[in-house]
Amino acid sequence: MISIIVAVSEDWGIGKDNELLWHISEDLKRFKRLTIGKTVLMGKRTWESLPRKPLIGRKNIVLTDDIQESIESAVTAYSIEDALSKCSPDEEVFVIGGGSIYRQFMPIADQLFITHVHKKAPADIYFPEIDLNIWKITEKEEFKTDDDIGIPYTYAIYERKTRLG
Ligand SMILES: NC(=O)c1ccc[n+]([C@@H]2O[C@H](COP(=O)([O-])OP(=O)(O)OC[C@H]3O[C@@H](n4cnc5c(N)ncnc54)[C@H](OP(=O)(O)O)[C@@H]3O)[C@@H](O)[C@H]2O)c1
Repeated sequence: MISIIVAVSEDWGIGKDNELLWHISEDLKRFKRLTIGKTVLMGKRTWESLPRKPLIGRKNIVLTDDIQESIESAVTAYSIEDALSKCSPDEEVFVIGGGSIYRQFMPIADQLFITHVHKKAPADIYFPEIDLNIWKITEKEEFKTDDDIGIPYTYAIYERKTRLG
């Protein structure tokens, strides 16, 4: 099972200057709850952006094209195929970003866990378009951040309309 997990702005932005666009603590807690005990797979830039690495309690896989690189405290993979060969068939894999990795995994992902943050934010990295001919929303829950600003956001789970062969 391959799941993508991401938080997107109203205009599909996900990051700027190799950082996230916001810190919604409830969303980060949910991210931890969903991914704990599982495998998280990410690109090298997202790995570099993590304040604490590796993400504890999870198998961390980091993708890089640099075959000289071997990342301490993570599994290093040099292609999508290499990354998947380093997972067992029954492993639950969460693709956690960033933009380049999401684009490459969209065609083979089974599920998308999208936090739609109802706010525009300047970004330099975007999530690819979700084709609603391919994906359907199976769960949706609306919230507001628990602070003065009260940013509204929606958790949505998308599943493929037809299973991959
Ligand atoms: N909003 C969210 O939920 C969320 C989640 C995660 C990340 N982000 C944001 O996304 C941004 C980072 O995204 P990004 O697109 O710039 O970078 P990225 O996808 O995290 O990493 C890109 C790097 O991954 C490696 N890579 C990509 N495809 C590969 C492949 N097929 N085989 C081997 N290596 C591969 C390359 O590393 P080398 O250069 O080492 O070869 C490439 O430069 C940041 O702003 C981050 O904060 C947002």
